[in-house]
Amino acid sequence: MKMVRLLLLAVSLVSALTLAACGGGGGGATAGGPLAVSADGENLAYKPAALTAKAGAPVTVDFNNVSTAQQHNWVLVKGGDDVAGKVDEGAITAGAPDYIPADKADIVANSKILAPGGKETITFTAPAAGTYTYLCTYPGHYAAGMKGTLTVAP
Ligand code: CU
Repeated sequence: MKMVRLLLLAVSLVSALTLAACGGGGGGATAGGPLAVSADGENLAYKPAALTAKAGAPVTVDFNNVSTAQQHNWVLVKGGDDVAGKVDEGAITAGAPDYIPADKADIVANSKILAPGGKETITFTAPAAGTYTYLCTYPGHYAAGMKGTLTVAP
């Protein structure tokens, strides 16, 4: 009799813990939903130029090149503007058609170069808390201001 009561207690504890775990972040992978980023019309800029994520959480970026004339990509680097500048230089050295440095050590995640009207979904795990620059590595676009900041909260 004692064993049965213990077992019941254990079972209810486990289900309480399971419920607590599931109730936490509002559903894990889908928490907050995908982040929508697009080219800012025909401007060499992103809309929005600021995104947020939570450290260690899965992130989905739906990148939409709404431009009718420009090719663009979306490249998130492991640091701020200094790292972005280095990646941009590497991209120019790498050249067409990808404009992505052969050594991707400074890149968290990136899309391909998208033709006007192109779309790509990028998934990655948010890095440690901090601020990270995203940029377009198509030649001249970063220099023209096509960049933004992903702020990762602890
Ligand atoms: Cu661009």
